[in-house]
Amino acid sequence: MRSAMRYSHILLTEALSEGGVAVDATMGNGNDTLFLSQLLEDQGQVFAFDIQEQALQNTREKLTENQAPENTTLYHLGHEKMEEVLPEDIQIQAAIFNLGYLPKSDKKIITLPETTLKAFEFILNHLAVGGRLVCVLYYGHEGGEEEKNAVLSYAAKLPQQQYQVLTYQFINQIHCPPICLCIEKIKEEH
Ligand SMILES: C[S@@+](CC[C@H](N)C(=O)[O-])C[C@H]1O[C@@H](n2cnc3c(N)ncnc32)[C@H](O)[C@@H]1O
Repeated sequence: MRSAMRYSHILLTEALSEGGVAVDATMGNGNDTLFLSQLLEDQGQVFAFDIQEQALQNTREKLTENQAPENTTLYHLGHEKMEEVLPEDIQIQAAIFNLGYLPKSDKKIITLPETTLKAFEFILNHLAVGGRLVCVLYYGHEGGEEEKNAVLSYAAKLPQQQYQVLTYQFINQIHCPPICLCIEKIKEEH
């Protein structure tokens, strides 16, 4: 069976098609940004966000080292503010969030429930039918449990006529095994 992270990539791959638009809401070391960039090739677009300059530097290096297609735009900006920079009429096929802190850096700089859910709202409002918001939740750190509960409770209340929501997790592992959450839009709101 795939890890939560590997499974998140499968869910993203299934939602993306040629010329599609993807968002990496938590760029970090750029692993997901690179993955999306390579998947979408030159016709697609990837918009990536992080609040730490270090994340942008790491991601830039990763994209260059791997000769990624020139289809990425990196924003040094909180994902809760993505509406300030993304086109109003954007149609997003796939978005990825990795909640928690940047590995090997300051464990105090973490994603937070309020800003995470504000970004979820923007993504869901701009998700194409068949598009997916995928979120890998790490919650072993201080504040992580609170964010996990807020995100799962928000997702569980989404109307089933409009969204399919699943979680994927190994339930017999120690140390807070990550959860992969996927929200797929099946119908526009009318
Ligand atoms: C678990 S890491 C992401 C790992 C990343 N996906 C990768 O491939 O390496 C979480 C990231 O979220 C970032 N972050 C925290 N709050 C944020 C916010 N409001 N907007 C965007 N990024 C944020 C942190 O700086 C950190 O780099």
